[in-house]
Amino acid sequence: MAQIEWKEEYSIGNASVDEEHELLITQINKLYQQLNQPLDTMVIESMLSDIQTDISTHFALEELLMQEAGFAEFEDHKQDHERLLDQISDMIFHFTEDPESGRELLINRLSDWFSNHFRGFDSRLHNQLC
Ligand SMILES: [Fe+2]
Ligand SMILES: [Fe+2]
Repeated sequence: MAQIEWKEEYSIGNASVDEEHELLITQINKLYQQLNQPLDTMVIESMLSDIQTDISTHFALEELLMQEAGFAEFEDHKQDHERLLDQISDMIFHFTEDPESGRELLINRLSDWFSNHFRGFDSRLHNQLC
């Protein structure tokens, strides 16, 4: 997995959402670096838990803003958030049960897990939220 690079073009035009996206990218990149160090399960579990907490808060904010703006894709977008939350729970569970293969899974999937949603659903929020 390559590191995710923040680009100005990713900006959707809402300061809070943009700030959280940048922060999540930083957190995921740091975790990726950690996953490539000698295995430290406690550090990785704590980083995963922070990402899980922060991304659920982030999704709640996006959902609130989409609802307020009457954004047409709200339901599908929200559904994709729920899918992502299920996926990170599964990845965390896998890592806790079997850290070695859980680490491989995270290295292979973590970037797409965030980026596919971010580059698809979130990019369509551009200039749509107040
Ligand atoms: Fe987002
Ligand atoms: Fe989103």
